[in-house]
Amino acid sequence: MIYILIFSLYCLTAGAQYLPQYYSFSPAVGSGSGTSYSSSGEGRITAIRVWEINGAYIRGFQLRYGYAWTPVYGRNINEELEMLLFEDEAIVQISGTYNPGNFIYQLIFVTNRGRFLMADLVLRISALLNWSLEELLFYSRMIYILIFSLYCLTAGAQSYVPQYYSFSPAVGRGSGTSYSSSGEGRITAIRVWEINGAYIRGFQLRYGYAWTPVYGRNINEELEMLLFEDEAIVQISGKYNPGNFIYQLIFVTNRGRFLMAGQPTGQSFNFYPRHSQSELRFISGRNDSSGITSIAAHWGMVYPVAPGVPMSGNGTMLGLH
Ligand SMILES: *[C@@H]1O[C@H](CO)[C@@H](O)[C@H](O)[C@H]1NC(C)=O
Ligand SMILES: *[C@@H]1O[C@H](CO)[C@@H](O)[C@H](O)[C@H]1NC(C)=O
Ligand SMILES: *[C@@H]1O[C@H](CO)[C@@H](O)[C@H](O)[C@H]1NC(C)=O
Repeated sequence: MIYILIFSLYCLTAGAQYLPQYYSFSPAVGSGSGTSYSSSGEGRITAIRVWEINGAYIRGFQLRYGYAWTPVYGRNINEELEMLLFEDEAIVQISGTYNPGNFIYQLIFVTNRGRFLMADLVLRISALLNWSLEELLFYSRMIYILIFSLYCLTAGAQSYVPQYYSFSPAVGRGSGTSYSSSGEGRITAIRVWEINGAYIRGFQLRYGYAWTPVYGRNINEELEMLLFEDEAIVQISGKYNPGNFIYQLIFVTNRGRFLMAGQPTGQSFNFYPRHSQSELRFISGRNDSSGITSIAAHWGMVYPVAPGVPMSGNGTMLGLH
């Protein structure tokens, strides 16, 4: 009886809609010296910033709840790494490495869209293998977006088509000649050449069925990823040495797959599109005769051909995730 009473009271105070909390807790790792912190804020976590020490441990971080940033926990020295989450996006995993005697050395925040913010040291592939139910929900939601987009398309030529363009400025020293990829249609594949144990030699993109020239050099074995029909690159992360080359490149797709090349040496960078429906459109930067010295990313949407207009060429596909 008491149980029923308590339950009834609970239901009463909870109002008409019962909202389960699904709360769980991952216990702390690390030595835990110093003062304690605990983030708090109203609403959902919408962004995250991390500060690292180049080649060493995590300095500090900061979360944004709704529109309000929390204080910085730890320190915010040097360049920040930032990830802004999309409207339906949430952090569903935190992985990393720590030294039981002192600091957290690596932090990876993974979202339900398969994107991640990576700060320092080695990226462990295992960190990306555990997927939650939320990802499945995400894909079912994408079907609605697909249907809605098709609806908008057929709704007429006068409907406004947003551009959703954004730019991730270059990282790296940037010596040598400049390159800028271009092609028709969607990016359908990527190739990267690395120097074993060192930096990125060169890379190449495929738009539709046509490969671009090689930017940088294509010596030794290539690493290649062919994208599926509804797949697009939605993140580029990696490491660079500000004095010379890009040392690591990770191309992440909207399916959570990635191509990884090079070595986790130097300063981290993470490039993301600003808009949730955008994808990688082209890459620019500089290279010298040995390898890639800088890289920048341009994000946008790929548009389907309007109804009734003949397909121009081979590589034009529906611009949806
Ligand atoms: C994935 O999840 C399972 C069960 O929750 C856990 O045992 C395993 O250690 C996780 N793997 C990684 C790489 O996090
Ligand atoms: C950059 O790469 C291209 C393509 O391999 C090459 O033609 C060019 O000479 C390189 N730039 C420099 C400065 O070597
Ligand atoms: C598309 O291009 C490929 C390779 O260039 C070619 O084999 C194929 O016939 C083309 N398809 C169309 C529909 O033009």
